Amino acid sequence: MAELTESVSYERDGDVAIITVDNPPVNALSWHVRQGLVDGMAQAVADDSAAVVLICAGRTFIAGADISEFGGEAKGPSLQDAQSAMEDAPMPVVAAIHGTALGGGLEVALCAHYRVALASAKFGLPEVNLGLLPGAGGTQRLPRLVGVPKALDMVTSGRHIGSAEAAEGGLVDEVIDGDHDALRAAALAFAARAVANNMPLAKVRERNELVESVRGDSAPFDAIRAKIARKARGFLAPEYNIRCIEAAVNLPFDEGLKEERRLFMELMTGPQSAAQRYYFFAERAANKVPDVPKDTPVADVRRVGVLGAGTMGGGIAMNFANVGIPVTIVERDQESLDRGLGVVRKNYERSRSTTPEQVEQRMSLITGSTDQADFGDCDLVIEAVFEDMDLKQQVFAKLDEVCKPDAILASNTSYLNIDQIASATSRPSQVIGMHFFSPANVMKLLENVRGAESSPTTIATAMTIGKQIGKVAVLAGNCDGFIGNRMLARRRVEADRLILEGATPEQVDRVLYDFGLPMGPFAMSDLAGLDIGWKAETSSGSTVREIMCESGRRGQKNGRGYYTYDPETRAPTPDPEVVDMIRDFAVAKGIEQREVTDQEVLERCLYPMVNEGAKILDEGYAIRGSDVDVVWVNGYGWPVYRGGPMYWADSVGLAEVADRIRHYADTLGGSHWQISPLLARLADEGGKLHQHANG
Ligand code: 3HC
Ligand code: NAI
Repeated sequence: MAELTESVSYERDGDVAIITVDNPPVNALSWHVRQGLVDGMAQAVADDSAAVVLICAGRTFIAGADISEFGGEAKGPSLQDAQSAMEDAPMPVVAAIHGTALGGGLEVALCAHYRVALASAKFGLPEVNLGLLPGAGGTQRLPRLVGVPKALDMVTSGRHIGSAEAAEGGLVDEVIDGDHDALRAAALAFAARAVANNMPLAKVRERNELVESVRGDSAPFDAIRAKIARKARGFLAPEYNIRCIEAAVNLPFDEGLKEERRLFMELMTGPQSAAQRYYFFAERAANKVPDVPKDTPVADVRRVGVLGAGTMGGGIAMNFANVGIPVTIVERDQESLDRGLGVVRKNYERSRSTTPEQVEQRMSLITGSTDQADFGDCDLVIEAVFEDMDLKQQVFAKLDEVCKPDAILASNTSYLNIDQIASATSRPSQVIGMHFFSPANVMKLLENVRGAESSPTTIATAMTIGKQIGKVAVLAGNCDGFIGNRMLARRRVEADRLILEGATPEQVDRVLYDFGLPMGPFAMSDLAGLDIGWKAETSSGSTVREIMCESGRRGQKNGRGYYTYDPETRAPTPDPEVVDMIRDFAVAKGIEQREVTDQEVLERCLYPMVNEGAKILDEGYAIRGSDVDVVWVNGYGWPVYRGGPMYWADSVGLAEVADRIRHYADTLGGSHWQISPLLARLADEGGKLHQHANG
């Protein structure tokens, strides 16, 4: 076997050339891979090989372009050079695919004349998730094989499809059951057959039937635009991907390719993709804890316990059942248990992606009980009872008594002190916060919270199990509200001040919605319920929220909150009565109302969050600035095309942000406007919050 470059080797099996890519971890198309592909094809021509098999070593076929090369200096041949060498080769080229053929990897495979794949292989063009589009012909070749509607779905969602689905559309010519050796043997046999039978050098670019049949028909494009409108709000890439497929349909291949190139370059050099590429690596960095090395032993979690089957407990249990881990869920009485399990069942039944058999299979993994002693065989127990320290301490003391000595005990608390909770047990090193976000079966964030004594194994287990259940886990320190809610609380203070000064709840919400957040603070309060933590007996009309509750406004649940809700559609309408109530309250407090600009709303809602994020980072409660961004994107819907609050502040310019924070500190006051020393220092030095790291 000859090494062509550091990652590509060449050998012959009879008269068939085998080009092997070995570029761990995911065989990304780094410059030396592209070089190796070009050299390998030249070698195959030079030694008159009858056919070529392209295969990859390690866990996967090529998983895409090397994202870490983007934005840097171009080196080696282009991907298009490597693709042309394959597509225009004088002998059949067979791609042998295992793992994931993604992005540029799939685009390379589409330039082979034939594709053989393991049944477990997956195919996708996930560039949209990086704010990009497939820039190496993917948008022009894929619809020629799988048809326009499926190609539109794949490029706008980034969805991976399996071998069976790929074979239906002709994306794969042969599906193999078995291992990597079987794949190699099957690809060689396919190549030998292609030679023996003089099979044509099938070029995807020449297959026009499926695109021509849609020419002049706008229906599939209208349909996809309507389908993704809500999810794609604010993003450029989904629309640009659609335009590329339109080009595939309406233009000759080479013209379509040019249009794809043009739109790709526009996205690649724009701010959205830069933010989304940063975020790709931020998410992967979040899983790394400097003082908990990769080889730290992790507890084997075979059964999970959940205490409390309310809003959070039920959703938490679903996460584990979804990946086949059995769950014991314990409630304080049978009625609450039945209600909780009923909600879980309903959630499964409502989900379109769960078949009736899957509903039963998952429900069968969840065992209900009213006796904590049934946690005896659980390896991890997650507590989700009411947010009350006395209660939490009481249940943790009991958990400590009934659980196995090596079981890990976690709390889903939103704000409470993990060390205080751990102190109720005899095993504080096995106690940790595992803070899920509502709805817990949907939201991707898991904010793990380390206590002073949480052991490396406890931390490593919470991080690992998070990934196993499909969450993005971030490790926070034990401060009030941890990373996410501590920042959210500062926004709330300013939002409440703004409405007293003359902004309306609708204005504040609209500004944040237009920024890209899913909803503003007032819509969020209405959704959660205005009366959370409110008691009629102690209410004294001292805040807007209190007077709202006193007047019977409870939020969405009774159709009246900061907005009035349509009983049928639940659509919110701004309510003039609320605006009057707020104004009267302000007048009574001696606050003069004025016109507030949208820019002021934006700064006053977001800069205190940035400032608090910097304080959290400076105080060591977040490991790195990018972790703060991951919390906000996955936990609160911060628009990923703006990177996250730290990245966003850096892109505004920290000097400008610091300036405005100082201005508001002088004019408005409040400890949340006292500038973070870290932010002030980085602003002076030209540093970046999103790149700042502790430890
Ligand atoms: N470039 C560079 N590094 C990459 C990479 C890529 N395309 N894909 C993954 N990596 C790195 C990750 O950063 C991570 O590094 P780390 O161990 O140092 O943190 C390592 O590979 C493993 O990645 P994951 O933790 O994500 O591993 P998983 O096994 O969970 O997932 C995967 C594997 C499904 C391949 C996933 O990594 C993935 O989705 N990767 C991105 C795929 C993608 O977006 N491809 C398109 C790229 S853009 C493109 O091709 C443009 C073209 O059209 C011109
Ligand atoms: P919830 O009120 O919906 O559910 C709590 C459940 O705990 C109830 O079903 C109750 O019957 C049960 N319970 C109370 N005492 C119990 C005991 N001794 N033994 C067994 N079960 C008992 O509350 P929710 O919203 O699920 O919150 C639970 C925890 O999760 C709280 O700590 C909360 O702060 C936290 N949290 C809540 C989020 C939310 O959006 N609701 C988000 C993230 C965390």
